[in-house]
Amino acid sequence: MDMWEDSLGGDIREVLFTREKIQEKVDEIGEEIRRDYQGRRVLLVGILNGCFPFMADLARAIRGPMEVDFMSVSSYGGGTQSSGVVRLLKDLNSSIEGRDVLLVEDIIDSGLTARYLMDNLRTRHPASLEVCSLLDKTDARAEEVSIRYVGFKCPLEFVVGYGLDYDGLYRNLPYIGVLKEGVYSRK
Ligand code: PRP
Repeated sequence: MDMWEDSLGGDIREVLFTREKIQEKVDEIGEEIRRDYQGRRVLLVGILNGCFPFMADLARAIRGPMEVDFMSVSSYGGGTQSSGVVRLLKDLNSSIEGRDVLLVEDIIDSGLTARYLMDNLRTRHPASLEVCSLLDKTDARAEEVSIRYVGFKCPLEFVVGYGLDYDGLYRNLPYIGVLKEGVYSRK
């Protein structure tokens, strides 16, 4: 562990998913996606900002034709709870009409963001629309979301790393862990 990782890592109470475990899972999902979309060109739609490490690794794990596009929505503000308010900050660059779209999320928590995005994207008439999320916090669900590809079930803890942040930090940790309680109060 080098210096910067050690300093950020010092705020972590428990590592839930190591870099190796994540990589193994992402490779598995990538292969599953390649098989399921054989003969078609899947369009990965990443939801910024949290998706970026997962999206980059997943894209390389899909050993077949694929494209990427991104959207950005805001749902949490700076805190640790879902606000329920979803605001579209950045839309897709291109039309998805007739495309095989796969929404890529780092985590689905209350499900409010995914519900909003699915409802929004469905109105644009894609040929297919599915969801892939590295983490699934099923016990926090307020909205029903059907997730086609799930990496790991996530406990009801506030997790950071591998794209997931607290107050903008920790996204660059190569693993996913639970933040120490005291870290919140330091803000
Ligand atoms: C996270 C995550 C999802 C959403 C899930 O994003 O990437 O988009 O929250 O929560 P929900 O299921 O309760 O709606 P966040 O709003 O924290 O933004 P970020 O990706 O920029 O960190």
